[in-house]
Amino acid sequence: MRKQKGITVWFTGLSGAGKTTVAKEIEKQLKARKIYVQRLDGDIVRKDLTRDLGFTAEDRNENIRRNTFVAKLLTQNDIITLCSFISPYQKARDYARQQIERAGGSFIEVFVNAPLAVCEERDVKGLYQQAREGKIENFTGISDPYEEPENPDLELKTDVESIEESSEKVIRYLEDEGYIDKKEGEAIEGFKARFSGPEPV
Ligand code: ADX
Repeated sequence: MRKQKGITVWFTGLSGAGKTTVAKEIEKQLKARKIYVQRLDGDIVRKDLTRDLGFTAEDRNENIRRNTFVAKLLTQNDIITLCSFISPYQKARDYARQQIERAGGSFIEVFVNAPLAVCEERDVKGLYQQAREGKIENFTGISDPYEEPENPDLELKTDVESIEESSEKVIRYLEDEGYIDKKEGEAIEGFKARFSGPEPV
């Protein structure tokens, strides 16, 4: 029996919002459960598949186009595909959904939502400071737009939720919607909860 069904989980949000961190945690947990999972991450693919691209609107869209193609193939082959891209334009995210759904795959848009001030304060890669100093052009949130998702399937508020809480929301979604099996222990607990019924009076 098939134990997993393909889906692209598309994380969008500002640089430093936690897209990669949450995707990595989910990857770790799913792999521990022997579920096939593949991450596609802006910082990684931009060193190879999309290394010729910069950060103009045109290049960002091309980045999303190529990665959507890869995500589609993975999803069609029942891999849980975790995509972490700023993907600042709603149109590009809609394109990704359309391409994948048209091919018979599933897609959810996950808004990794941390306020700009928080991302800037974290400044994990030191890029916000460089952007403020004008050393990096077209930096999302500073000198380039970020269009918040109009209707995300899930929203992770990483400034108030722990990494575990945010990851749990996604994993719970995948379980509830039947993309992956529930964890064994949880399945038994859930069964007991459903069938034990109220105590007799
Ligand atoms: S996207 O807009 O095309 O979706 P992507 O997620 O692949 O972006 O890459 C974003 C990463 O590139 C950031 O996390 C950051 O490390 C780096 N980066 C370098 N320059 C920029 C910039 N001008 N704007 C945003 N991110 C940048």
